[in-house]
Amino acid sequence: MAPDIRPGLSGPPIEAPISGADALALLESDTTLEAAQPILALAAEYLTETRSGEGPVSTWHSAEVIADRLAAPLPRRARPLADVARRLSSLLLQDVNRLAHPMYIGHQVSAPLPAAVWTDAVVSAFNQSMAVREMSPSFTPLEHQVIEWMTDLVGWDARAGGTMTSGGTEATFTALLAARARVLPNAWRDGVGANPPVLVCGEHAHYAVSRAAGEMGLGLANVVVVPSADHRLSVAALRERLSALRAEGRRVMAVVATAGCTSTGTFDDLNAVADACDECADELGPLWLHVDAAHGGAAMLSAAHKHRVAGLARARSVAWDPHKTLLLPLAAGLLLMREEHDLERAFAQQAPYLFNANLDAKAWDMGPRSFQCSRRADVLKVWVAFERYGADALAALYERLCAMAVHLHGRLATHAQFTPLHVPESNILCFAWNPPGADAADRDALTDALRERYNRSGRGWITATTLDGRRVLRVTVMNPRTDVAQLAALVEGLVAEGTQVIRHHR
Ligand SMILES: Cc1ncc(COP(=O)(O)O)c(C=O)c1O
Repeated sequence: MAPDIRPGLSGPPIEAPISGADALALLESDTTLEAAQPILALAAEYLTETRSGEGPVSTWHSAEVIADRLAAPLPRRARPLADVARRLSSLLLQDVNRLAHPMYIGHQVSAPLPAAVWTDAVVSAFNQSMAVREMSPSFTPLEHQVIEWMTDLVGWDARAGGTMTSGGTEATFTALLAARARVLPNAWRDGVGANPPVLVCGEHAHYAVSRAAGEMGLGLANVVVVPSADHRLSVAALRERLSALRAEGRRVMAVVATAGCTSTGTFDDLNAVADACDECADELGPLWLHVDAAHGGAAMLSAAHKHRVAGLARARSVAWDPHKTLLLPLAAGLLLMREEHDLERAFAQQAPYLFNANLDAKAWDMGPRSFQCSRRADVLKVWVAFERYGADALAALYERLCAMAVHLHGRLATHAQFTPLHVPESNILCFAWNPPGADAADRDALTDALRERYNRSGRGWITATTLDGRRVLRVTVMNPRTDVAQLAALVEGLVAEGTQVIRHHR
């Protein structure tokens, strides 16, 4: 038979074309639980084996090594699913970061709740798009219900609403689009003009805020950054900036506060920020306050931590990521709005083939409120998490994560080599390494070297950041299996690897 010489096709020559019926038979053979078993087992084995803390947290193969391993022509022929599972495991899973390992204390990504992990397969199997209600007849009302639970937690009434998002970045962008529509009602058609309003945020705001300003055409020049005091927005400085802006005749589109900031997990004083917004009310009313509670929103569930978000109900919009401290797998983000109709104005999109206004008394469709068109029903994972564990257990898990950060703070406070840099208000702690015998000028480089060496060792995984001008180590406890024994091992591991770092430095 002549080889396949169709342009653009790689791989070995095709000996016989596969018929549609044969292709269909292939996928039909994958529909049973038995067929799914090799793939599902990868997740189950990972969860059961890793949670005990056996084995390394990560490997340190370079991206090039892994890319070389993966380099292959586009597969042209089918393989049994069991073979694919084996290849997936041997080619890829050996080099993942094991977030379920209790020594992973790194980024703000969770060791996910198992019930939510299993639900992910259901979300995909049913594949209901959240664009419009007719595409997701059960899950659209479910999203409304879950949002109502969350807006009730904030303390809002029946006027509130929201949407699920891919995460905090999208939630904040959407909230700020709604804020823009309030001050510039024609911006969707006319743009923001030569003298756009300004956006005010704290020094420790996540880059989602400045990114939104760039995305929506305000420009970074129109982001006013307020300095922090003790890693939270300085309300005195905020008041000064707001009155200076008023004196210059500049309109403020929104003030963004943070509840659980990325670097230290510190909470802004939301009541004080809301007071400042109220004092600067203009003809549209108080300034729009958006709270980025992407990280710290789970504090709302906990009697012990709720005070940290006191004043949250005074916000006009709130971003909260269940995929962070509520321990959902990616992606599960939420935008909550005090007035649902504000969200309708964020996107003034016409799409008659999709959005049919006035068909329902209640506007069920989520598409008009969302940055996305086709969207996964991630809400199902959130619902299952509450159904399976209940809000009280989820609150207890959050409290446990935070308690571990406090424990580590206490442990480091008396350690000769480390200095905790703030009292943790959530599950994040930054601390400095004081390498014995090293010059102060070398500390930043040595700190980065220690972090890299420690992570490469497979003992554990932590992050680093720049805080008050200095490179520092940072942990975020995102796995409820991390206990005091692991924190002791972390300190021990850092000291041991640090000794090597100093030796190589000399
Ligand atoms: C305070 C804060 N806001 C927003 C984000 C962005 O969230 P996402 O990655 O879900 O878009 C983060 C992420 O770390 C964050 O810490």
